[in-house]
Amino acid sequence: MIHHRSLLSLVVSVMLTGLSFQVFAQDTPTFSRDVAPILQQKCQTCHNPEGIGPMPLMNYQQVRPFAALIQDRTSKRIMPPWHLDPTIGIQSFKNDASLSDEQIATIAAWVEGGALEGNPADLPALIELISGAEWQLGEQMGPPDLVIKSAPFDVIANGQDQWWEPNVPFEGMNKERFLKAAEFKPSYPLGKKVVHHGHAVLIPEGERRQVALARYGVGKSWEIYPEGTGMRVPTSGSIAWNLHYFPVGAEGPGDVVEVGLWFYPEDQPPELETAGEVMFRVDGLKGMARGQDIVIPPHSYQVLQGTHRLDSPAVIHSYRPHLHMRGKVMTMEAILPDGSKEVLSQVNKYNHNWQISYIYADEEKPILPSGTILQFTSVFDNTANNPINPDPEQWVVFGRRGVDEMSHAWVGITNLNEEQYTQAIAERRARQETLRLD
Ligand code: HEC
Repeated sequence: MIHHRSLLSLVVSVMLTGLSFQVFAQDTPTFSRDVAPILQQKCQTCHNPEGIGPMPLMNYQQVRPFAALIQDRTSKRIMPPWHLDPTIGIQSFKNDASLSDEQIATIAAWVEGGALEGNPADLPALIELISGAEWQLGEQMGPPDLVIKSAPFDVIANGQDQWWEPNVPFEGMNKERFLKAAEFKPSYPLGKKVVHHGHAVLIPEGERRQVALARYGVGKSWEIYPEGTGMRVPTSGSIAWNLHYFPVGAEGPGDVVEVGLWFYPEDQPPELETAGEVMFRVDGLKGMARGQDIVIPPHSYQVLQGTHRLDSPAVIHSYRPHLHMRGKVMTMEAILPDGSKEVLSQVNKYNHNWQISYIYADEEKPILPSGTILQFTSVFDNTANNPINPDPEQWVVFGRRGVDEMSHAWVGITNLNEEQYTQAIAERRARQETLRLD
């Protein structure tokens, strides 16, 4: 990898150490020139002094002691948290956090070459980190059109998990609007550490539907619907908050969670209405084992499968597997009406600590005909090979606790009619055609 500044550092190192280092200086990556830019781009949003990462990785002094661990976690693709199998299925996402093979190789070569600092003059300019107090979508979307707030909760320092489920009236809208994006924002810094997961669901007045404005878990704080797609939000109703607080040794009276909402302009509603994330069970349902019947013997594996037929064409915009500590893999495949089968996405390094929503790029999101079967496959690993298995001696069954298991997927999906489907396919073909001609 040759950068424009490498010549300078080459000259410097030749001056300092003699000619024999010439090749070495050019080939061995240094922190300042090669590694710092990667950390800036892919790690420092969490690994900063106030972030959720356990240690800051802002400068050489902070990074050097972790060099070997960083090589280990990045080469295994455990860090950054992006647990998707890069060898199969769709690979273009709006929120891709992963390292490229080249970046992983650069980090490895840097560690193997002695984790050198290099020339501090090669360091990239500091980037401005978005503080946890700000909206992560702010830069892209501007300030939210409406902010809703949970009722205050007194966070305790120590003790059991706490559930806080207040109902708060929803107001502030004088017209029905279509949601374009939403972000769930715990307080900062305390809330970011103690709010483990949660959601804000709007129950419209006099309607039976539920409008899930935002669902949150570590690794998932926002949602942007595809262009031309939105969720219909009524003028009034009540927000059912469901917040899971996890004490971490610090008290915080009157803690409030906010959700920021961005809408389509009033006079430009989107063509497509979405229900947002829909739950797909991965457990057989029809006569096979059910989620409630998960039974994994000690030191063994279990595979569960769930199939769901789409009764209309649909677009899929996101995929978020949900398993617990023994869950390792969840694959989402489409069996098309012509019998062909395609893996859409596979998460093969699932880690329960992270709830990552894989949000497809608009150009590659699956557009599926009516009659498609979505087939999901979960694999559970209750052996000692699973590093987050708390106890491979246990029988594991279905349940809400992390040591029990679950098996479902949250899929962002929008149903289409036949005309919309034909149009969506035609638009995609036209786009691909343009790309070929370019
Ligand atoms: C979205 C936030 C986030 C990002 C981005 C992120 N990390 Fe982490 N990292 C964490 C958290 C949280 C933990 C501890 C919990 C865990 O391991 O899942 C962690 C753990 C680690 C550990 C293990 C620390 C230990 O003591 O076991 C290493 C090493 C690491 N991260 C390196 C990196 C590197 C290198 C990058 C970028 C290439 C990165 N992380 C990106 C949040 C993040």
